[in-house]
Amino acid sequence: MTCEGYFGEFGGQYIPEVLMPAIDELKEAYSELKDDEEFQNELSYYLKNYAGRETPLYYAENLTKKLGGAKIYLKREDLLHGGAHKTNNTIGQALLAKRMGKTRIIAETGAGQHGVGTSMAGALFGLETEIFMGRLDTERQQPNVFRMKLLGAKVTPVDTGSKVLKDAVNEAMRNWTATFENTHYLIGTVMGPHPFPTIVRDFQSVIGKEVKKQIMEQEGRLPDHLVACIGGGSNALGLFHAFIQDKDVRMVGIEAAGKGLNTSLHGASISKGKKGVLHGMLSYFLQDEDGQIEEAYSISAGLDYPGIGPEHAYLHDSGRAEYASATDDQALNAFMELTRSEGIIPALESSHAVAYAIENAGNMDKDEIMVINLSGRGDKDLNTVIDIMQKRGM
Ligand SMILES: Cc1ncc(COP(=O)(O)O)c(C=O)c1O
Repeated sequence: MTCEGYFGEFGGQYIPEVLMPAIDELKEAYSELKDDEEFQNELSYYLKNYAGRETPLYYAENLTKKLGGAKIYLKREDLLHGGAHKTNNTIGQALLAKRMGKTRIIAETGAGQHGVGTSMAGALFGLETEIFMGRLDTERQQPNVFRMKLLGAKVTPVDTGSKVLKDAVNEAMRNWTATFENTHYLIGTVMGPHPFPTIVRDFQSVIGKEVKKQIMEQEGRLPDHLVACIGGGSNALGLFHAFIQDKDVRMVGIEAAGKGLNTSLHGASISKGKKGVLHGMLSYFLQDEDGQIEEAYSISAGLDYPGIGPEHAYLHDSGRAEYASATDDQALNAFMELTRSEGIIPALESSHAVAYAIENAGNMDKDEIMVINLSGRGDKDLNTVIDIMQKRGM
């Protein structure tokens, strides 16, 4: 970070005046707690004993042999309680909310994994919970809507815009403006006004710290490639962050190319976006010629955000990280491939990262090591996949 709240020129606090007290309060509370031993011990306690950290780093031998190149390891965030990496952040922020004396948490969600994670944390810590979710996402991620309700959360479908994640963020921000005295807005990815991108990054950075230790134990050296899918960018930054100073480690983020980068149906905000301001931050966003935000699209609800967290925008511009993309079809193919070759059903989001390995691992040397962040499990996507398979007569 070059200046407080900025990553290069990206980030900042582009928010209405009325939210400044809430943001200032959060900034102050977090800067006190992030180095507070008691808070960090409490967080570690819940991550270990409730959520199941550390997650395994698994050598995918069958997939490696099939692709015939780099050695592939999977960081198994799909095994975390809740079924995705989102739990790292929701436990952290819910503890933070409690320390701030808040009694209510709200969140936005796309795939529903962040909503499930927030609802679990709400139940665990006795916080009233409301989740905003685009109506379209409530329809395609029904198992997760049901989970949130079972966990005691109120799920509020959002009917504005294209009824997906961006619209849920708008609604959650609007709600926070009116309720921040007793409510914490538990943002689910590395986006939003400062300090959210840093807070979420810090809570997710446990992923990369574990990978570093685990790969040293298993291979005695650092990996050559780190690969993760990108929605807003939290699982990717969680994996990358511990390695940023290790210049020989390549970091690759995989965006959703949807129906193709030369169509209007994708979610590739780095490859196809422009600089702009939305949801409180300066970053890359999909925009039309007049600077209006364009809708994102992906087969996976967790990747169809039209922007990217500001730290990724900086890592891209500075050349430290690379960004590629995978289409819906490549992700589906990867979903099948991993399921059949390793007996692991990945989330469609994570399948985008696996697709990169399928495209590229075979052209790498056998002594190269690639770590893929398996950000979540695919149970929530079964309806989507079954539907497509049936339509294709498979
Ligand atoms: C399993 C899974 N992976 C990845 C993502 C994308 O989010 P992020 O880029 O913040 O990791 C989501 C979002 O819902 C998700 O559910």
